[in-house]
Amino acid sequence: MTQPITCIILAAGKGTRMKSQTHKVLHKVAGRSLLGHVLAGVEPLTPAQTVVVVGAGRDQVEAAIAGSAGVTTALQEPQYGTGHAVLAAKLEVETSVGITLILYGDVPFVPTDIMAQMTATAAQQGGPVILGFDADNPGAYGRLVLGADAMLERIVEAKDASTDELAITLCNSGIMAAPTEQLFSLLDAVGNNNAAGEYYLTDIVAIARTRRLSVNVVQADEVDVMGVNSRADLAVAEKVFQQQRRQEMMDGGVTLQAPDTVFFQADTTVGPDVVIEQNVVFGPGVSIESGAIIRAFSHLEGCHVESGASVGPYARLRPGAQIGANAKVGNFVEVKNARLAAGAKASHLSYIGDADVGQNANIGAGTITCNYDGYFKYRTVIGSGAFIGSNTSLIAPVTIGENAITGAGSAIAKDVEAGALGITRAPQSTKAGWASRFMAMMSAKKAAKKKSA
Ligand code: UD1
Ligand code: CA
Repeated sequence: MTQPITCIILAAGKGTRMKSQTHKVLHKVAGRSLLGHVLAGVEPLTPAQTVVVVGAGRDQVEAAIAGSAGVTTALQEPQYGTGHAVLAAKLEVETSVGITLILYGDVPFVPTDIMAQMTATAAQQGGPVILGFDADNPGAYGRLVLGADAMLERIVEAKDASTDELAITLCNSGIMAAPTEQLFSLLDAVGNNNAAGEYYLTDIVAIARTRRLSVNVVQADEVDVMGVNSRADLAVAEKVFQQQRRQEMMDGGVTLQAPDTVFFQADTTVGPDVVIEQNVVFGPGVSIESGAIIRAFSHLEGCHVESGASVGPYARLRPGAQIGANAKVGNFVEVKNARLAAGAKASHLSYIGDADVGQNANIGAGTITCNYDGYFKYRTVIGSGAFIGSNTSLIAPVTIGENAITGAGSAIAKDVEAGALGITRAPQSTKAGWASRFMAMMSAKKAAKKKSA
């Protein structure tokens, strides 16, 4: 029987270095908050309960997690350190059975398999498990001090460390797991007699050793435990996320012609055999089915592209765009809240907003749906097989029947029935010889003017 998991996510720190009105853990990487990344990482472990420890800015965090099942907050005010923060969560923790996993709201990328390894080890060994990493630049991190038996003896904070201890590069990520009941018992023994005058969560290691409990270290790569404390860190986190996601996309069978120029969101889904050309940006809420091609310099958000469809180059798909199988959205075409059914084509220079375009309909270059009168939005419906002549203005609400045609340059404000031609062009008149006479007259005028000058 696997034991229930309780997650405690520390997020009471002020985050002053962000210089922001927004709570630190609500800053976004790839469209998802730092806290959202932590919660997404934890989700596959199906925790019985998740408690987010908050201080200032509590309302913002509560609003952000509203609707996430099993996630609550605990208030830590004032903040007397990480040990004090975990004790603040204790009041909210509903079960003393099982394992507690402690995470930081500003450490977004801890891999789920590492979390699982930690909780499993804590359950098997019946003691705390610390997530350590070998730091390039150990700086202010707590150091993991190993004993003669190569077991973890204690964690020393940089502020309290001796010169020898500061030379240790094996550092504390802050992420920890321990049997729940044991964790709170150990924390009760933690004091604040240290350089910061704080209650250090890390002190439970030395206390566990005096109680002859086994304390284990699981090791992560430094990028997996990177924290975000500033805007510069946020930019690094974005870069790390993008690199990882591009690799995952390619591993999943997506062709990226220039991976470094394609930007995904945390929720972007792309099927196998999709080709993504250079400089493509995905906003939130995009899904692309297998075999579609997204050509260079396209921007997509809130849209769905079915298999075999072709989008771009230079296309813009806005929220509510649904591009059917094998449909085509060409260069400088914007689609918003509109469905193009299978095989429909809008190849050049169009705005298709609030519209339904039927199967295999062809939208001529420069066609615009006039969907807005300055007050309300209206729909345009185009039947299957219809042929919309170039530069048609479709003044919504308007319906073009199946296999109907509109004349190029028409402003269509009335419905066109199936099979009919809708045309609003003024009749053309052609004046024989007029252009030749005009050109001769004007050239003579110009020559005369030059001579007199
Ligand atoms: C802590 C660890 C240190 C580790 C480092 C990794 C302790 C004593 N030290 O350092 O060994 O190398 O993390 O980054 O645990 N927080 C609260 N309430 C508090 C204090 C902190 O919720 O009273 C939260 C912060 O919001 C943050 C996290 O805990 O998410 C870590 O706090 P921070 O001050 O950055 O860590 P340190 O104590 O410096
Ligand atoms: Ca600190």
